[in-house]
This record gives sequence, C-alpha cells and structure tokens, in this order.
Amino acid sequence: MAAKIWSTKKNKKIIFRNSPCVVTLKGWDSAENDSLSQKGLSVLKNCDILISDGVFIDIGENLLDTHGNLGDIEIIDASKYVIVPGMIDCHNHPIFAGSRANETVLKSQGMTYEDISAKGGGIVSTMKATRKVTGHELSELYKLNAKDSLARGVVLLEAKTGYGLNPLQERKMLEALYEAHSGKDAMDLPHLCPTYLGPHAASPEYRGLDNYIQALVEDLPNIAALGEEAVKKGIAFPLAADIFLERNYFTKEQSERWLGAALQHGLDVHIHADEFSRSGGAELAAELARRLEQTASKRRKKGRVLTVDHCQYATESDLGRLAVLGVGAVALPTTSFFSKIPYVDAKRWRASGIKVAIGTDFNPGSSPMNNIWFSSYLALSQCGFSLAEVIAGVTINAAFALGLEKTYGSIEIGKKASLVAFDGASVEDYFSSLLGDHVRHVVV
Ligand code: NIG
Ligand code: FE
Repeated sequence: MAAKIWSTKKNKKIIFRNSPCVVTLKGWDSAENDSLSQKGLSVLKNCDILISDGVFIDIGENLLDTHGNLGDIEIIDASKYVIVPGMIDCHNHPIFAGSRANETVLKSQGMTYEDISAKGGGIVSTMKATRKVTGHELSELYKLNAKDSLARGVVLLEAKTGYGLNPLQERKMLEALYEAHSGKDAMDLPHLCPTYLGPHAASPEYRGLDNYIQALVEDLPNIAALGEEAVKKGIAFPLAADIFLERNYFTKEQSERWLGAALQHGLDVHIHADEFSRSGGAELAAELARRLEQTASKRRKKGRVLTVDHCQYATESDLGRLAVLGVGAVALPTTSFFSKIPYVDAKRWRASGIKVAIGTDFNPGSSPMNNIWFSSYLALSQCGFSLAEVIAGVTINAAFALGLEKTYGSIEIGKKASLVAFDGASVEDYFSSLLGDHVRHVVV
C-alpha cells in the first residue's frame, strides 16, 4: 500500500487521532538529554495532532473534544500508527541522467570507487550522460527521484548539482531543479534545499583544477542571483555551496578559495570530506567557521558553515572543534555499504559532542539507493548510533544540517506541520520495515 501524501496547501485542516506513539523531538537539544536513552525523543502517548493551514495547532489527548466544531477537516485514525516529524534527507544527489549499475558489478569483483573513477567511471561517467540530456529532461528525471523520497517520508530534500562540471552545465542542473519546483506538480515533491556542487570533480574544459575553481568563482554572482530569485519566488530554500575535498579531487587550498568565495556571497556551505583519507575538510570547516565568528559584525551577507559530510577519517578532536563552532556532521552509511569503505564510529562521534545528521548520499555510483530508512538502519546496525540518535539524525539534526531547525525536524505547536505516520505502536517499530514500506501517511 503506497503512502498517502497530504499537502497542507491542498488540505486546510487535518487531524491525526489517537496515535499510541508520537515522537516529537521537542527539546532534543537540551543539555540533560542522554542520546543513548529515548528520553530526548519526547514521546507522547494516545495523542492527537491537529494541523491547520500548514501549522501544528495543537498536540495532545482528545483534541476533537477540546476544540469543538472544527468544520471541514480530514480525520485520520492513527491508532495503529507511530508518528515522527517529517523526515529530512540532508545529503542527496537526486538529479542526474544515465546509469552506473555496471559499477555495482565492478565493485563486487573487488574494484574500489577510486579505481573505477581512475578508469573513467564515477562522477565523469554521470557527467557525460547528464550533459547529453536537456534541462527539461533532467528536471523530469529529478522529479522521479524526489517523488520517491517523499513517498518514504522525506519532506525536505537537499539536492546537489555536480554532474555538469562547467559553469554552463552546472547552471543547467540548478535551473532544472528550479523548473521542477515551479511547475504544477511541485506540490507532489518534497521541499527543496538546493546545493551547488560545481567543484565535484575535474572539468574537461579547464586545464587544472585551479583554473576550474577560478571559472566557478567568477560565475558565483550569477549562481547566487539564481538562488536568490528562487527564494523570492518561494520555490526553494536558499542555495548552499559544496565541494569534494579529497585526494585526487580538490585540495584544501582550492576548497578554501571556493568556499570562502561562496560565504562572501552569502551562501551557506557544506564539504564532502575525510571520506577516503584525512583530507583536511573538518580542519578547513573549523578554520572557516572561526573566521566567520571573528568577522560576524562586519559581514553584510551571512553565509554559514553548516556541515562536513562523510568524515570517516576525521578524528574525535576534529569533530569536537566543529561541535564547539556549531558546525554539524553528516554520516552517510549507505555509501560505506555500497562502496565497501569504513563506516563512521558512533562512539567517536558521540564523544566529540558533534550534532549528528544522517543522509542517504543517493547518487548513481557510490550510493545507488534513495532510501532514508535503509540509511537509518545502517546508522544503527553498522555505525552504532542509538535509536534516538538515528531518529534525531533524520529529523531535527538533519534540519540543523540545513540551517532550518526552526522550521523543520520536530512536532511542536506553532511549527510548520510535516509528519510521517507508519505502522506500529512503539518507537522501535521505526525499524519494522528497513525500507520504509510501513509508511502510510506523509504530511508535507
Ligand atoms: O558523496 N564523494 C563525492 N560525491 C559523491 C559521489 C558521487 C558519484 O560517485 O557520483 C558521494 O559519494
Ligand atoms: Fe555526496
């Protein structure tokens, strides 16, 4: 049975009645929260949730009695559903053309992600397929992936460009994302948090990575303007910037140049880093965040360093420094699973005090599975995160990773309404389907 999607734009008033278990995550961040216990999830029992005009109006027992006549309202019997906040996939590459299923076979025969890339596969092979299609075709391909995310409960989707690999083609990708969210079926998609990942790999048009970075920096004003226009139109959240900082990809110096420029244009930044080696991404993020703190009063535009993503090789003190500066980290266990690389170690992350988000890293090569539930399961079973950390990692901490924790990630009166209802009666039932086949209702 497919999940029913409730768009609060179409349905003015909705009430979920009598859920045995509403996981609100209210107050998750409080100092006394112990991430190993389930207390921080702030679970409510026998609970109704009343939504009106896209906002949580009330949460508690017997709300139909308390509120009297609510007029035209959708009433949903939730007595067999667990309810969690709308999920957030804070790291996804959902827009691309072509297939790299052959790489799955090559990896099974012992080739590594890096071997495959060195032989012309990897990001470059997706770039070739992506360049061949029109922006409109790309937009249609993206919609399929985004709808898949929403059907499993992802109400806010981060979407990276990065398969265009020159300013023109990268812009085509970004515009294709915006096109998808401008059209009439935008309501059937999760909300969009776009990220410009021009520096994802070398560009065939530019000799040397320095020259490519230079070209991207020169095009930044145009890109930032596109981002601002989309925000004004109300079709997306502010554009962020990202880079792949790793051996054989971009260096720390090149990353500093790119991210520094992006921050100056008011873009928030993420970094793909410390995935195959201790590439210096966590260090760079700390340096940039510290610099921003020092210049906060003088800066006109306010870009923030949001997250470092992957981080298998970041040390506990690398992560600890980020935590103090308010930078989050994103664990991407599905990539470890499919690319046969180490998982992050939950004990080390926990000890560092970092805010942990969990993403799918869905892309056609290193992580070809767009399923936040499977990523959650791997975070639990392979990384060792607790059930509470996992749920926070795909809700409130994922919202933090996108700078949107005030709007998303918890079920609280006054907050924008989004939720996922799945078959079950207790928090553990989160894992009663490892693929999310138990999702029945999604409010976006
Ligand atoms: O996050 N690490 C860099 N980028 C992607 C891989 C993208 C691809 O292989 O197409 C990742 O794993
Ligand atoms: Fe990625």
